Amino acid sequence: MDHKHDHHDHDLDPDTMYTQATWDARYAESERIWSGQPNQRLVEEVADLAPGRALDVGCGEGADAVWLAGRGWRVTALDVSEVALSRVRAHAVEAGVADRVGTLHHDLVGGGPAPGRYDLVSVHFFQPLPSQFGELYGGLADLVDAGGSLLVVGHHPDDVATGARRPHGPQLMFTPEQVVEILDPGQWEVVTESAPTREMAGDEGPVTVRDTVVRAVRR
Ligand SMILES: C[S@@+](CC[C@H](N)C(=O)[O-])C[C@H]1O[C@@H](n2cnc3c(N)ncnc32)[C@H](O)[C@@H]1O
Repeated sequence: MDHKHDHHDHDLDPDTMYTQATWDARYAESERIWSGQPNQRLVEEVADLAPGRALDVGCGEGADAVWLAGRGWRVTALDVSEVALSRVRAHAVEAGVADRVGTLHHDLVGGGPAPGRYDLVSVHFFQPLPSQFGELYGGLADLVDAGGSLLVVGHHPDDVATGARRPHGPQLMFTPEQVVEILDPGQWEVVTESAPTREMAGDEGPVTVRDTVVRAVRR
């Protein structure tokens, strides 16, 4: 889902950029931050999968979780922000899928790996510090059951050069190769490793952004 509002510079302080206080304050700034539409790459990658148990990591206001639930998935929507999670619950009720959407308040940076086992772990635009990248994404990969998918979508480093993602710290952008590197080839089949572009609304008109997209299936 595209941004309605840009990040502020203070969000880039590594000591505060992943805390509940920062994200609760950010969500509280407006009634809705994200577009309310499911992420394009989620739809592309998951539409043909048989539904099961899904974990939506850093779920924000829940558009992806609601979309998944509408397709029959039982979704755990995880975020550090209680403000965001209360919006997820409200949107799930509005969409008539509250029985298939649960929320999990969890701090992925300060609180270690999330609990549970899933048929799909879906992460969109969670950009960890490089020092935490392997541990964090490795921990999320561990939550995928045999035959299940890990889907990681992030901001690609190309966006630094185009200026399309000015508010994001360049050190936080990552490539598909960086995600694939943390997956043991003996345990994972990489089915998507790509960096497609898409158009989105920018402050001064449409901008082209590049996504990092990796989907891997646990053997
Ligand atoms: C860039 S937003 C992405 C939201 C949504 N996935 C999307 O695609 O629009 C990042 C999300 O990660 C959450 N987040 C930030 N730090 C976190 C942490 N330490 N643990 C869990 N979630 C966190 C934020 O609250 C926010 O909802």
